[in-house]
Amino acid sequence: MLENKTVILGVSGGIAVYKAVELLRLLTKAGATVHVVMSKNAQEFVTPLTFQTLSGNPVHTELFNLYQEQEIGHISLADRADLFILAPATANLIGKIANGLADDLLSTSVMATKAPVLVVPAMNSNMYENPLYQQNEKKLAEAGYQVMEPATGELACGWLGKGKLPEPELIFAAADAMLTAKDLSGCRVLVTAGPTREELDPIRYLTNYSSGKMGYAVAAAAAARGASVTLVSGPTSLQTPYGVEVVPVRSAEQMRAAVLECFAESDVVIKAAAVADYRPARRGENKIKKTADEMTIELEKNPDILSELGTRKQEQVLVGFAAETESLLVHATEKLQKKGLDMIVANDVTAEGAGFDVDTNLVRFLFADGKVEELDLMRKEQVANRLLDQVAELWQAKRQ
Ligand code: PMT
Repeated sequence: MLENKTVILGVSGGIAVYKAVELLRLLTKAGATVHVVMSKNAQEFVTPLTFQTLSGNPVHTELFNLYQEQEIGHISLADRADLFILAPATANLIGKIANGLADDLLSTSVMATKAPVLVVPAMNSNMYENPLYQQNEKKLAEAGYQVMEPATGELACGWLGKGKLPEPELIFAAADAMLTAKDLSGCRVLVTAGPTREELDPIRYLTNYSSGKMGYAVAAAAAARGASVTLVSGPTSLQTPYGVEVVPVRSAEQMRAAVLECFAESDVVIKAAAVADYRPARRGENKIKKTADEMTIELEKNPDILSELGTRKQEQVLVGFAAETESLLVHATEKLQKKGLDMIVANDVTAEGAGFDVDTNLVRFLFADGKVEELDLMRKEQVANRLLDQVAELWQAKRQ
């Protein structure tokens, strides 16, 4: 929900400054107006010109600069922000803010703002673990700043540990969530995504083209709207969405077991996964050898997880997807009724820019009461939010 919002991106000095450039790109792409404030040390790593070019706004560096002060003083900069992001935030910057010190433009602006502040620490792992640093971080959290957990991995100083700046996509998602209305707060959402793999032998499997993008977008949007989200995911190359718990599975049977385990504790289930309807009747213990010219693979039916949920459901809102290549509405309506759903997302996967392994989708929502809503072609993130608008209403109605 960063569109048309004013974001101040505060950048302090560290090797991770280059990642703030990518974060800036994501923010502007989402339609936010971004003003960048850089500390003196940050400018040693990346020049202000880079940030200026990408933001389209002058970069602010000096506390006492007549031109900058006249145009946009540090107080008005702080005042006009809808959100303040500090990324990367060094131990020094965090220490200053925690102790009420404001001795440069960045620390002054962040202390003067009334906007929500997202602090994204990045530092050497020993510094991160230092009890003095931890005290400062705790102070910020207690004062209402949202502090992100650093990533673990190889640090620029050669150490392996916790202290890396999280990937820009994750920081972006955390920022977006801070400005998103929490209409799913208290709602436990179970989402499935991706394909399943049905093994033929230890090195081969049957699968489909699902990338997981649709289901991951739903999970990320639900988490941003305050839901507690479990994502049961078939194999994908996607990053775990911010604030989502992922349960990785491979086969339809594994997906069924994971879904059934969470079902009773869920308020809403959204099944975007492309589950294989059939699996090889026999799995070779070893690699199947090339012998005859022809080979026949016998298949047996997989459990229909969604149908099973339909028979078990109590008060849950149950949402399915229908991937169709012909007679979209006929087949989707049949699935809606047969599987006992509250709503189905009818997905014409033959349409340009829709369905498997693309960033956009073209869908219609069909409801149990016969209502239909047709959406234009849009990004899967937008489809996810439109879907969740409906889900939030269905969930509220069931609670009353
Ligand atoms: O992952 P992407 O690349 O982003 O692509 C998105 C998508 C095309 C996979 C997605 O938008 C979509 O349409 N998902 C449903 C795919 C599908 O399996 O449709 P279906 O019509 O075969 O199944 C109907 C519903 O029953 C689905 O909710 C499915 O999860 C569920 N099902 C199907 C078979 C089965 N054995 N168990 C199930 O639970």
